[in-house]
Amino acid sequence: MNAKILTIANQKGGVGKTTTSVTLGSALAREGRKVLLLDLDPHACATLHARIFPEEVSESLYDIFLADEAAWPLLWPQVIRPGALQGMDMAPGHIRLSELEVDFRERRAKGAVLAQSLAKLKERYDFIILDCPPHAGILLVNALVAADLLIIPIQTDFLALHGLKLLFDTLHILNKVLPAPIRYRAVPTMYDRRAKACTRVLELMRQKMGGAVFQTVISVDTHFREASARGCSIYDIDARSRGALGYASLAQEVQDLW
Ligand SMILES: Nc1ncnc2c1ncn2[C@@H]1O[C@H](COP(=O)(O)OP(=O)(O)OP(=O)(O)O)[C@@H](O)[C@H]1O
Ligand SMILES: [Mg+2]
Repeated sequence: MNAKILTIANQKGGVGKTTTSVTLGSALAREGRKVLLLDLDPHACATLHARIFPEEVSESLYDIFLADEAAWPLLWPQVIRPGALQGMDMAPGHIRLSELEVDFRERRAKGAVLAQSLAKLKERYDFIILDCPPHAGILLVNALVAADLLIIPIQTDFLALHGLKLLFDTLHILNKVLPAPIRYRAVPTMYDRRAKACTRVLELMRQKMGGAVFQTVISVDTHFREASARGCSIYDIDARSRGALGYASLAQEVQDLW
């Protein structure tokens, strides 16, 4: 195995990053792929979704970031919870991830720490999914440097395209120093086909981003809220629902990229 790292990011909040990380991961796991989900958000929403609570997390991704290469082989097994989230392994996030900006002031090659720490783990997974926080900073840079594919969930909503400039500025800067430009695809989310504004934004996305937009469009579906409230997958609630079918189709498109 040589895992592909999927970085799920958008600096806009509430666009479906965590939902995409969890549900795409679930869909891949249901197809028998070995998946690891990393919760890089200090707010640890994906971690909570897996019913892992802050008080019971002694080792988290924060410790991975602070440790050095020699410590990673022993530390990863303490951080990773096998099968903790819908058939996926899970590395929990922690509020202390927000301190990294300060902790990393003196660290050398600080943007490449995550990529380096994941290098050995890649043998054990088909996909490693990184759920990113909604702001620029050292966590996002690490997630982008590690990415084999950046997936940008874009809410099909007025103003949705505005927040993107920040992300593309970051990409542009990184692309200048990385050996190859970061590959990316956008996925339209929370699409309501009855709303004219949604249809217009979708058209605009396809016009502006062309082939970089997945064919799959994720519809608005109330089952997602129910799934996160019940701490289960949308596939457990209704595997034939629009949302479930949407992410199954996205999983297919993602696998076809390699
Ligand atoms: N396709 C969808 N249909 C309906 N509700 C959705 C859909 N996708 C996500 N949601 C809901 O929208 C809210 C925000 O989604 P989510 O947490 O995935 O966004 P996020 O980008 O990770 O947010 P943040 O920037 O805070 O990390 C959640 O309550 C989620 O259940
Ligand atoms: Mg999130």
